[in-house]
Amino acid sequence: MSSKQQLIIFDTTLRDGEQSPGASMTRDEKIRIARALEKMRVDVIEAGFPIASQGDFESVKAVAETVKDSTICGLARALEKDIDRAGEALKKANSGRIHTFIATSPVHMERKLRMSPDQVVEQAVWAVKHARKYTDNVEFSAEDAGRSEIDFLCRIFEAVIDAGASTINVPDTVGYNIPHQFGKTMKTLIERIPNSDKAVFSVHCHNDLGLAVANSLAAVRNGARQVECTINGLGERAGNAALEEIVMAVRTRQDVFDCDTHLDTTQIVNCSRLVSNITGFPVQPNKAIVGANAFAHESGIHQDGVLKHRETYEIMRAEDVGWTQNRMVLGKHSGRNAFRSRLQELGIELGSEEALNEAFARFKDLADKKHEIFDEDLQALVTDKGAESINERIKLVSLRAVSETGEMPNADVTISIDGEEHSISAEGGGPVDATYKAIEALVNSGADLKLYSVNNITSGTDAQGEVTVRLEKGGRLVNGQGADTDIVIASAKAYINGCNKLLDSGARAHPQTADV
Ligand code: KIV
Ligand code: ZN
Repeated sequence: MSSKQQLIIFDTTLRDGEQSPGASMTRDEKIRIARALEKMRVDVIEAGFPIASQGDFESVKAVAETVKDSTICGLARALEKDIDRAGEALKKANSGRIHTFIATSPVHMERKLRMSPDQVVEQAVWAVKHARKYTDNVEFSAEDAGRSEIDFLCRIFEAVIDAGASTINVPDTVGYNIPHQFGKTMKTLIERIPNSDKAVFSVHCHNDLGLAVANSLAAVRNGARQVECTINGLGERAGNAALEEIVMAVRTRQDVFDCDTHLDTTQIVNCSRLVSNITGFPVQPNKAIVGANAFAHESGIHQDGVLKHRETYEIMRAEDVGWTQNRMVLGKHSGRNAFRSRLQELGIELGSEEALNEAFARFKDLADKKHEIFDEDLQALVTDKGAESINERIKLVSLRAVSETGEMPNADVTISIDGEEHSISAEGGGPVDATYKAIEALVNSGADLKLYSVNNITSGTDAQGEVTVRLEKGGRLVNGQGADTDIVIASAKAYINGCNKLLDSGARAHPQTADV
């Protein structure tokens, strides 16, 4: 990194990102994402909201025990029970932070909290002091700061800094702000608050008007030294500021920013794929930095220009964010060492020799069906494997699906449930429908299928299909994933993966923070 001041990157994919309807993640999935963020050298990882549920508490605890190089943060309302739960979850963290918040806008204070401004200040100060009993690293957020009065923000921030908060976060909770105005708010706060030099000022923007990144960058230009963001811009409603866009804007335009991050940007594409695979939220092809077309030149004039001199049409190098030049990596004859070293290059850690051997066997199976194996195939292979490793009570044993013109498609399915095999045949509108009817007749999950999507992982008709399903039961939403060169099998795997997650007590309902 340059000699410029550090811009702290606070990733909240596992907390605010997870508040995106349907994006809930299991504890193991959160650990995998947290590891990838650590590898990317993210400074602070907000791992969850421990009071929200037992599952959230366990996830924050597990991430705090696993990740060593990034600070792990837990969210807490300005309430004793929330802060105690966060303190408990973070006990074993190498470096832990409690992030406590209370709303400060007139509408939130009057209508939601039903508290006077004086009571809100008193509660905030109390909360920060209480959090300090657990750690010196306490962040305070003024929820809905974007619609709060500047005099009140100055008053509450000064008080919580005196109480021991070392990070002051200014969230545009409802994505209402416009960049020049939000930049001015940040500047005024830092100038007017007498003890502002005792804390790092932070920004947290939502994307309701499509301005989350622009507002965050305006705040950075005006003194913010921490940005809260998520991979792929995942988050409540229209999402949060996208980490990859913030980091690359600051890195690419060092002429206008007086700070920089120390992230390893070559990990960005891997993190993006991992989050997309796990949550089932695809990345649009024209998404900045991580979309499949972000570095693709279609027009002849552009192609000609880039071939003559890259900088004619490219402001960043694809390889600097983790796109690989030659994406054809392995084939049928590749050995175990080549497989292992490619996984390492992709930042995929399998944890044990046994896990590597198992993944290699799956790779060989895939290579028999598919001539060329790409990085994306390896990612899917490992995600598929990760998906299977949750308490997997239901397993696909065999599937035979038939579709023929003029005939009703049907599927013969055998699955094992808790080690006991069961078989059934079913008909349906198509082979996937027949397969799902057969599986459902055996597992009797009673879940509603809220989403079914198939994406080709690479190009060509021999590409693997990656299927995501979203299942809902009793208010709980889970995502199931499956990948295979046969999309009916991929579909079956995805449905079974979703059912296993519904059976897994570690998974949990979508966190309800609306009453906060
Ligand atoms: O958007 C928001 O206000 C939040 C806070 C809890 C920081 O997510
Ligand atoms: Zn938020």
